[in-house]
Amino acid sequence: MIVESAQGARGLRNSVTFNADLIPHRILMVSPDFYRVSYAINPHMRDSSGKLKTVDKANALEQWTTLKSIFEKLGLPVSTIKGAPGLPDMVFAANQAFVFHFDGTTHALLAQMAHEARRDEVIHFRKFFETSGYTVDQLDNSQAKFEGHGDALLVPGTKVVFGGHGFRTDYDVYAELSDRFGFDIVPIQLQNESFYHLDTCLSIINPDCAVVVENAFEPEGLKMIRSFFKTIIEVSDEESRSALAANCFSPNGQTVLVEKSAPALIGALETREFEVIPVDTSEFLKAGGSIFCLKMAIF
Ligand code: ARG
Repeated sequence: MIVESAQGARGLRNSVTFNADLIPHRILMVSPDFYRVSYAINPHMRDSSGKLKTVDKANALEQWTTLKSIFEKLGLPVSTIKGAPGLPDMVFAANQAFVFHFDGTTHALLAQMAHEARRDEVIHFRKFFETSGYTVDQLDNSQAKFEGHGDALLVPGTKVVFGGHGFRTDYDVYAELSDRFGFDIVPIQLQNESFYHLDTCLSIINPDCAVVVENAFEPEGLKMIRSFFKTIIEVSDEESRSALAANCFSPNGQTVLVEKSAPALIGALETREFEVIPVDTSEFLKAGGSIFCLKMAIF
């Protein structure tokens, strides 16, 4: 089913069934060996004078390693795919597939990247999924753009997906997710190029609470988000851009990993009694990604 109104989103919320794990059983990351900014496919990748940003490789490796060890300390096993030469954005492991349970197996629906520069990343993920016992699927619509967990955000434990579209993923993909795999979809149109993936402006903390960047959405989309979640935490304009603060991630509904340069969001979460772990992702912000983008959470 695809829901198209605030009323529909409220109805979906009231009828939602929890039939899957609320906590991911694995985190997948890509090592940053070849990470750098060597082209610009989103506005974050250039500085104010228009030059590509420069990554400090040693610092990037340290930040990535710290993030990995935070997941491990929280009890989540982390699998790593090795980064590949010529694929500088492959470290953003949220984008190359959408992974879910269906008909008794774990499926990896491969992404169809919007930009040529990122297309070959998917080959490496395909290999990982094939050798790890996942059912690998491809979209029937081979022409559609689809960037995996960057745009398709699953409400933990349910079959509800908030589906971002407009920049990197086409609306039509969600009809296929609904018809072929039984997802209930709340499609969300993106309209601000700084928030080019849904995960840059919406973080589903748990089935009751979401963090949002209000000006990333059309009014109708924002209404659907507000109708589904009981608690909405808004991110300030400043933190949403400079810290990509809405790219935070909760691995268990209660602990939230937040970019450390977003003090207002950290405070807002702590006031609501979430446990916050501040994480430094400054090197990855240079390519337009942060915590949520740096991993694929497999439920
Ligand atoms: N430079 C990458 C791109 O523009 C960053 C991807 C960040 N990932 C994410 N899930 N938002 O594609």
